[in-house]
Amino acid sequence: MKPKKSILITGGAGFIGSHVVRLFVNKYPDYHIFNLDSLTYAGNLENLKDIENKPNYTFLKADITNEPEIHLLFKTHQFEGVIHLAAESHVDRSINDPLAFVKTNVIGTMILLNAFKNLWKDDYSNKLFYHISTDEVYGTLGETGLFTETTPYDPNSPYSASKASSDHFVRAYGETYGLPYVITNCSNNYGQNQFPEKLIPLFINNIINNKPLPVYGDGNYTRDWLYVVDHAIAIDLVFHEGKNEETYNIGGFNEWKNIDLVKLLCKQMDEKLGREKGTSEKLITYVKDRPGHDLRYAIDASKINKELGWKPSVTFEQGLSITIDWYLGNQEWLNRVTTGEYQSYYKKQYQ
Ligand code: NAD
Ligand code: DAU
Repeated sequence: MKPKKSILITGGAGFIGSHVVRLFVNKYPDYHIFNLDSLTYAGNLENLKDIENKPNYTFLKADITNEPEIHLLFKTHQFEGVIHLAAESHVDRSINDPLAFVKTNVIGTMILLNAFKNLWKDDYSNKLFYHISTDEVYGTLGETGLFTETTPYDPNSPYSASKASSDHFVRAYGETYGLPYVITNCSNNYGQNQFPEKLIPLFINNIINNKPLPVYGDGNYTRDWLYVVDHAIAIDLVFHEGKNEETYNIGGFNEWKNIDLVKLLCKQMDEKLGREKGTSEKLITYVKDRPGHDLRYAIDASKINKELGWKPSVTFEQGLSITIDWYLGNQEWLNRVTTGEYQSYYKKQYQ
């Protein structure tokens, strides 16, 4: 029997990674999917309960900064394709502990690149290193314009600087060593299983518990929101049909000022919780702004749309409704991830 194609997905126990792992395990029985994750506060194997016993799936608990272990795993499992999502991903945490972001996002990516290069350098045919990045590497937009694939990098937070740095290393390994790669830079994701430190799940959890909704600054910051399953579909497409050494921007064609988004969320939550109209909006509290807060992100996703035929499959209202329903139906998940470390993080960040 032909051996299954060996694919490594890093960060597969996290928010986006778990959706990518599920899609690949279910869609490609001829691949063996290895999910490598160190299970930080953001990693949660509960996210993958439905596929954990599938014959084409293996979980590897490992840290991408552990060089000997990573090299050994590449040698043992001969990963032909890598989809690299493992990262420290929260901007506010990067402001409090920037070095942790350099370690995982820069050094960890370098260690994966070296392991991939050492394994395949004599023959890169049918091999691919796919690096998942963010639109934040482009810095901030003013009131107009969109990020394209040629927008110069101009990162403003330790998180985005670490992601920009890792993007540069991936590209440099392509130029210098001929390592085959693709990079995608995506806008803000939302959906099931997102850790409640990011805007949407944090505010859903606070509305459920009648806690204040801490809007940074004046709330007039803009983000471009994409449903996480649509991101996973785009990743599948780029992994199989993207061109070597190309970058693709992925976005939702869906810009929202934070305060307008929060009001829409409050409205949907009131309806779903059977609360009187306007109840949740009363929880909105303006708090101290995030240092270095980027004013606006918005993606021009026309390249991936024209070249690979990708576009989002749900509207924001639909995606948000599915997301709220998931959190309301999974309050035990929410309660479990918001105990322990979360409580001290929350206190430090918001009090
Ligand atoms: P997440 O924080 O939910 O998950 C990150 C995962 O990586 C966790 O499972 C964690 O345990 C794992 N991890 C962290 N450090 C590790 C290490 N040293 N070794 C092994 N595993 C480690 O993140 P996410 O929101 O799912 O983001 C995934 C990727 O997508 C990141 O690279 C992020 O930069 C990028 N991205 C995220 C968004 C977004 O809106 N969330 C948008 C664009 C791009
Ligand atoms: O653009 C892609 C990026 O989107 C990803 O690369 C990051 O991994 C991801 O975390 C996200 O970054 P943001 O900083 O945009 O997401 P966050 O959910 O933290 O914040 C969204 C907006 O909401 C931002 O303008 C800050 C604001 N905000 C956030 C929090 C947590 C608040 O006003 N209050 C809050 O408590």
